[in-house]
Amino acid sequence: MWWADPALASPPLLDLLDETERARHARFRLPADRDRYAVGRALARLLCARAAGCDPREVVFRLRCGHCDRPEPHGKPHPAGPAEGWELSVTHSGRKVGVALSRGLPVGLDVEQIADRDLDGLVRYALTERERAELDALAPAERAAGFFTYWARKEALLKATGQGLSGGLTSVEVSGPHTDAALLTWSGPAAPDHARLFDLDAGDGYRAALAVLAAPSVTVAVHDASPLLEAAHHGFAPQPGSPPAVP
Ligand SMILES: CC(C)(COP(=O)(O)OP(=O)(O)OC[C@H]1O[C@@H](n2cnc3c(N)ncnc32)[C@H](O)[C@@H]1OP(=O)(O)O)[C@@H](O)C(=O)NCCC(=O)NCCS
Ligand SMILES: [Zn+2]
Repeated sequence: MWWADPALASPPLLDLLDETERARHARFRLPADRDRYAVGRALARLLCARAAGCDPREVVFRLRCGHCDRPEPHGKPHPAGPAEGWELSVTHSGRKVGVALSRGLPVGLDVEQIADRDLDGLVRYALTERERAELDALAPAERAAGFFTYWARKEALLKATGQGLSGGLTSVEVSGPHTDAALLTWSGPAAPDHARLFDLDAGDGYRAALAVLAAPSVTVAVHDASPLLEAAHHGFAPQPGSPPAVP
């Protein structure tokens, strides 16, 4: 998986996005949301292209929801075209963008900036009774970070299957903040046969986790995406016929 800084958003990176992505990019009202989105999708394309040995603009993302059959495209992006067979997960929060890539094994990545706003409501929405009791036993100063440890672990799992939050955060029960990341129980028909869960270090003020739908023995390699993104700032001429990038 790769970490990136949304400050690396630039017009050349926007040249990597397809038309639908550029339209979505232009609809974000907040520059911070726009930059996180651009860096996430551009990095996802660059990594898929490097893995598949093709031009980043040849990579196609098909959106598939693991939860419902609504006809309009939505949900988890799946690489198609030359990058078919690779599995991907994108996440962003605050000043962090993350992309996980795997050959064939579904992955789910989540990063969360720690905040203590509306924490009690989020706790009721997201945690099982057992997780809540464990959180309540933490010192008050540990409560917000503890909560986002749970959230990132649970959402990483739900993003791996493509259910996302619609799968229900309480359908998944995970280990607590003072224990290594582990899936304890998963209820419902969409529960996968195997799942591996890892905490990632996203820096102070963040919690992050990665889930891989696989039997044991998965190795996770963590990289800084800055060199790849900085190289892309110089490297791509717009394709003939593509609309100009939105500054
Ligand atoms: C999508 C979702 C998992 C995002 O969570 P989040 O913490 O707000 O945001 P993150 O930054 O961690 O993840 C966002 C990325 O997850 C990916 N994603 C979208 N839907 C996904 C899904 N169902 N499963 C896995 N990944 C998904 C996308 O790449 C998205 O980023 P991008 O569009 O900028 O590339 C969550 O908001 C969700 O499940 N929403 C769907 C709820 C809904 O609308 N349900 C009704 C239809 S089923
Ligand atoms: Zn859906």
